[in-house]
Amino acid sequence: MTHRMHIVRTPAELRAAVLAWQQQGKRVALVPTMGALHAGHLALVTKGLTMADVAVASIFVNPKQFGPGEDLERYPRDERGDAVKLAGAGCSLLYAPDVATMYPPGFASFVRVSGLPDLLCGRVRPGHFDGVATVVAKLLCAAQADVAVFGEKDWQQLAIIRRMAADLDIATAIAGCAIVRDADGLALSSRNAYLSADERARALGLPRALMATREAILAGMPVAAALAAGERGIKAAGFARLDYLELVDGETLHSMGAPAQGARLMAAGVIGTTRLIDNIAL
Ligand code: PAF
Repeated sequence: MTHRMHIVRTPAELRAAVLAWQQQGKRVALVPTMGALHAGHLALVTKGLTMADVAVASIFVNPKQFGPGEDLERYPRDERGDAVKLAGAGCSLLYAPDVATMYPPGFASFVRVSGLPDLLCGRVRPGHFDGVATVVAKLLCAAQADVAVFGEKDWQQLAIIRRMAADLDIATAIAGCAIVRDADGLALSSRNAYLSADERARALGLPRALMATREAILAGMPVAAALAAGERGIKAAGFARLDYLELVDGETLHSMGAPAQGARLMAAGVIGTTRLIDNIAL
């Protein structure tokens, strides 16, 4: 049986619904998304329901996190299809505001975490994480849920959101959810929809390089040499551009020259015109 799910479009309606559940003693999980939902998003709902009694999802393609020339206009949108998937996953409420509701005339506030957004993806997407922090702060403030769940594929985003929530005394707990991959290892992403069959096959170069680099480091190869071999693998797979392949501390995102507890391998590159990111624990 499909779950009953309501759709609301204003922050006041969102807050009223969450508060009503909380007043009944229920814990509420918020799952922020930009829609075009895949199994990775539905895993966030499932994870939310292990930590709370009720799951609420949001869908908002946030213009403030897209740079000039990025894919804001062509970003896939399918609210109806997404609503069916969310209801099937056990979600009770969908918050789907429009741009004018989120950013009405006169909107003038920005949330900027310093430091973390300048690293990794931030080097090629200036301003992106300010847009993310701003919209996530708005969603967290509006919902005041007990927990909010974010995917670990966007590891840097998750680190920034954790920092922001701690710094701003946001009471909602921030939870990460493991990456969901296709059977062949490609991390699920709404942007995989842009890939041609040939690009989809070549995109596997990214997770394969991450795994090969991890194995090389764990086998004792110096980190710099292992990363250089991984970079060659990504380029040989046909990536037009490699933004980074780095071993970093999972919390501070600072580069590490040697393996240590909490280290994470992070990669981003462009195949055709599609930018893909991925990461694995060491
Ligand atoms: O990860 C995403 O889908 C987005 O960056 C988020 C967290 C929903 C903010 O727009």
